[in-house]
Amino acid sequence: MTQTLVKIRALHYRVKEGDQTRLILDGVNLEVQAGESVALLGRSGSGKSTLLNLISGIDKPNDGSILIDNQEITRLGEPALTLFRRQHIGVIYQFFHLVPTLTVSENIALALELNHWAPRDIKTRVDSLLDQVGLSLLAKRFPDQLSGGEQQRVAIARALAHQPSLVLADEPTGNLDAQIGREVIALLNRLVTHEGVTLILVTHSQAVAQGANRILTLEQGQLAERAGDFAW
Ligand SMILES: Nc1ncnc2c1ncn2[C@@H]1O[C@H](COP(=O)(O)OP(=O)(O)O)[C@@H](O)[C@H]1O
Ligand SMILES: [Mg+2]
Repeated sequence: MTQTLVKIRALHYRVKEGDQTRLILDGVNLEVQAGESVALLGRSGSGKSTLLNLISGIDKPNDGSILIDNQEITRLGEPALTLFRRQHIGVIYQFFHLVPTLTVSENIALALELNHWAPRDIKTRVDSLLDQVGLSLLAKRFPDQLSGGEQQRVAIARALAHQPSLVLADEPTGNLDAQIGREVIALLNRLVTHEGVTLILVTHSQAVAQGANRILTLEQGQLAERAGDFAW
């Protein structure tokens, strides 16, 4: 039986530009089933990051509804939203955003500590993730002692550590060489499948998008479903 994890209805988002307002999202609708991976393509400035920020509750829409795990997140206040995000959502960014003063292990453990996991469970989980992303030997390094690809593997482990139901990745290969990017995406897809996590992945690359179950494009504030090959 499939279960709808994300249900977005009539989402509108406007930004002010001088004394004008511009509609970035103009009635976005989306349903994502638990366990699906969805790739989101769109031109630079089309609103992809905006949409992810609304789904993670970092930003508030002007209008519309966002249900995640049957929770209407647009109605949550800041403390409840922080808690919801910490427990249900993992995020992967283009520029990694690891905490520079924490080691690889500590970066991965952070979300677990915030969720009050027992120290023994944290160690087991971090060791398992380090193994899965192939970084066991680099556990004690700091982020600036890692390559970009290695940093992104740490960020993937961190995003999945607390067993979120939804992972949002915003151009995770945008700052990596093509070959390293392919390896990172293969790893991400493998881990997401292994952990049964739902993934929404923003990318510029049609090759990256082809690894997902579904491909959506964001154009003129609206989402469209794409099937097979399409011109882009
Ligand atoms: N807080 C803001 N104030 C003004 N303009 C914004 C704000 N946030 C985003 N924008 C504008 O919204 C548009 C969509 O941005 P973004 O979601 O980052 O696009 P994408 O991720 O697809 O490149 C861009 O034109 C950007 O300049
Ligand atoms: Mg963006």
